[in-house]
Amino acid sequence: MFKNIFRLTCILTLTSSNVVAGNSNDWRKTGSDVEKLTNVVKVIPSTSDLMFQMGERYRNLYWAGKQKKWAFAEYQVEEMEGLMKKLKITRPQRAASIEKYFSTAFKPIEAAIQSKNWQQFSLGFESMRKQCMLCHKANDHAFIILKPVPGKGNSPVID
Ligand code: HEC
Repeated sequence: MFKNIFRLTCILTLTSSNVVAGNSNDWRKTGSDVEKLTNVVKVIPSTSDLMFQMGERYRNLYWAGKQKKWAFAEYQVEEMEGLMKKLKITRPQRAASIEKYFSTAFKPIEAAIQSKNWQQFSLGFESMRKQCMLCHKANDHAFIILKPVPGKGNSPVID
């Protein structure tokens, strides 16, 4: 009986001291507002974080068009636009490149999706691909070359 109470007390003491120690090391709970803001700014999505997603959506877009899943293709373009808008906020030094891209890349592919025509889609996709790579070149990443016919991604929507 006494042995059990002793054990229980030890466990409770250990657990509560761990919680306290955990809290005091956790900037989200105990950090100053400046520390919190600094950390949050450090971890906002980087160009490569967002570009990784662009790459996946690029694959999905191609295969959605190929398989005539037009609504899914349209959705991919909308999400890509969203990623670019996000990048403009998280990496303001890229704003000029992003604006240039917006003014050229999305219109042909959007029109092609509306037309529901594979020939037009493949032309719009190719023109978008060129714009993606122009931006890579202008931003010291010319070696990131996108395949005109990308491999299938992991989307369970694509056959
Ligand atoms: C605003 C300019 C810009 C545009 C537009 C752009 N990219 Fe990028 N992309 C970059 C930069 C810069 C990098 C290198 C990222 C880094 O090093 O932080 C990159 C990297 C990538 C990567 C490599 C990601 C990784 O870390 O493995 C992929 C994939 C990619 N882009 C796909 C695309 C696709 C697809 C498009 C068009 C649909 C596109 N990008 C449009 C600037 C751009």
